[in-house]
Amino acid sequence: MTTAPASLSVRDVTVRFAGLTALDAVSFTVEPGSVHAVIGPNGAGKSTTFNVLSGVYRATSGSVHLGSTELTGLSPHRIADLGVARTFQNLALPPHATVAESLMLGRHRLTRAGFVASGLRLPSATREAQRHLERVREIAEFIGLDKELDFPAAALPYGKQKLVELGRALCMEPEVLLLDEPIAGMTADERRRTAAVVAGVRDSLGISIVMVEHDMGVVMRLADAVTVLDFGRRIAGGTPAEVQNDPAVVQAYLGAQE
Ligand SMILES: Nc1ncnc2c1ncn2[C@@H]1O[C@H](COP(=O)(O)OP(=O)(O)OP(=O)(O)O)[C@@H](O)[C@H]1O
Ligand SMILES: [Mg+2]
Repeated sequence: MTTAPASLSVRDVTVRFAGLTALDAVSFTVEPGSVHAVIGPNGAGKSTTFNVLSGVYRATSGSVHLGSTELTGLSPHRIADLGVARTFQNLALPPHATVAESLMLGRHRLTRAGFVASGLRLPSATREAQRHLERVREIAEFIGLDKELDFPAAALPYGKQKLVELGRALCMEPEVLLLDEPIAGMTADERRRTAAVVAGVRDSLGISIVMVEHDMGVVMRLADAVTVLDFGRRIAGGTPAEVQNDPAVVQAYLGAQE
């Protein structure tokens, strides 16, 4: 079954916490196969946006759709099942797993044979496991970690661990990938490599990416579209060049430095 790639649309999303409006009627659309950056000063509502998209927070009002499917109010698990995968700002790898095992975790939602069949080693289960393992190898190669498949993931340098997380999300075969500060804390070399992988995810796999990122150089180079938040409001949106010269954006960032 093939379906046309779907756009992710955020419509008038408002999130209120006791006495505080973290997001105020925010709307934007992530076009299929594009990198869409969400930027803004500290406290602007970037993480809140991510948490709404992935189902961790429930919007007070407004809606999120993937194509014609409404995601608003669904559980994180269900949203992941529908094709929206995320990575976390902090590393979230199991402590003793190898790279291969960590990637395999991303395959779980796609495993049909189930635990009983796998436990009994039925031929159908073994064939399925083989297929998943092949896909894990392909994805490891894609993120440049095929040589490290049997290494403990937690023993790898930070930048490679982050790539394992990205690989695990790719193993879910998502339509949309949510990346929370994918290059934060990396060395210059790791940044270049990760940026190249993210571009590859878009260009070779056709997956849409929503990225929260503070590094403006990377945002400007990688993003096809940018949404700028400030105090929970969308203050600008467009191509990187358009938002870079937008007076409201300049003002928001200058204001944030005072
Ligand atoms: N669970 C929560 N309960 C109460 N307030 C919250 C909660 N989560 C976020 N907020 C508030 O909502 C506002 C937006 O926060 P958010 O974390 O989305 O900002 P951000 O753009 O990700 O900032 P940063 O760049 O610092 O990560 C902030 O004022 C924050 O204190
Ligand atoms: Mg944040």
